[in-house]
Amino acid sequence: LKNRQVILRARPVGIPQASDFELRDGSIPDVAHDQILVRNRVLSVDPAMRIWLGMPGGYVEPIALGSVIRSFAVGEVVRSRHSDFLPGDKVVGLFGWQEFAAVDPKSILWKIPSEEFPLSYSLGVLGINGIAAYLGMTLICRPRAGETVVVSTGAGAVGSGAGQIAGILGARVVGIAGGPEKCRRCMEDFGFHAAVDYKAGASIDDALSQAAPGGVDAYFDNTAGEISDAVRRHLNVGARIALCGTSGVAGWSPWPHGERVERHLLNKRALMQGFVVTDHVERYSEALERLGQWVRDGNLTCSEHVLRGIDRAPEAIAYLYEGRNHGKLLIEVG
Ligand SMILES: NC(=O)c1ccc[n+]([C@@H]2O[C@H](COP(=O)([O-])OP(=O)(O)OC[C@H]3O[C@@H](n4cnc5c(N)ncnc54)[C@H](OP(=O)(O)O)[C@@H]3O)[C@@H](O)[C@H]2O)c1
Repeated sequence: LKNRQVILRARPVGIPQASDFELRDGSIPDVAHDQILVRNRVLSVDPAMRIWLGMPGGYVEPIALGSVIRSFAVGEVVRSRHSDFLPGDKVVGLFGWQEFAAVDPKSILWKIPSEEFPLSYSLGVLGINGIAAYLGMTLICRPRAGETVVVSTGAGAVGSGAGQIAGILGARVVGIAGGPEKCRRCMEDFGFHAAVDYKAGASIDDALSQAAPGGVDAYFDNTAGEISDAVRRHLNVGARIALCGTSGVAGWSPWPHGERVERHLLNKRALMQGFVVTDHVERYSEALERLGQWVRDGNLTCSEHVLRGIDRAPEAIAYLYEGRNHGKLLIEVG
């Protein structure tokens, strides 16, 4: 048996392309004392991986050239030399873009408690994406019933979750997304009250005046950049901004210049707070419990975009930055 792995061949310049990666036939790793051998079933593709691949502006060590691509994945324990894990356990963790990983228990984020939901949900709506949506919305945006919440990348994995959670909490939700099809999904699939197509060629500002005539009480920001410049002009007094991602900024070297935010924040006594989901491990079980209940009740739905086969991985990150993914982007391992 071989272990197909995706390796970093070259440091990407701009959006990571297939040519930056290489597929390699590795061997099944030995399992040291206290380690667990996981067979990956589904691999995650996340915008943050662009930073992990060495784009300037990040806060974690970039992946070394020639090593396996760091990623979240869900898989099955096939061998265990640790008493907390048994063969057959389904686990989520940082297992990398490869078929088999021998990992220490600290690489395992959680064990999936039941087979109630598809395994892939543990990388999306019931995974880091759903938890990010839940924490950003409940800790920072904190919408009250009747308030207006705007979410950028509203049709994406995190954005669709954040918007639906705002809706569950009683807010009026406006999604911002690229193209008419994604805007349709925001309204029909995710139940948002309005959607703004930032690629329509019209002014985002005017579209927001129409979509959020009473102003914006909270903004779940996945893009930064020009989209967020437009949203800030519509803030109400006391607004909260959860800064989750910066997908709308092309690069951080040289550090980009843009509209200054201070006067908006001061005039509107607004709070803008960045957050990183992995700082809140102690809240994961609470988040997963509530997210699971909403999925079970039919109040929280997700969409997935699955590429089949690990050989599709090298082209996958570009999908995210070209907006070609419809929902949570995943790679099903053959
Ligand atoms: N802070 C945290 O702890 C945390 C955790 C997880 C994720 N995140 C962040 O959450 C954001 C969403 O992640 P996700 O996994 O849910 O990805 P996603 O939204 O499913 O996919 C990425 C989307 O970004 C949009 N996009 C790409 N280039 C863009 C541009 N130039 N301007 C505006 N939008 C652009 C595209 O949507 P359109 O087609 O609509 O443009 C694309 O589909 C990312 O910024 C990610 O880094 C943060």
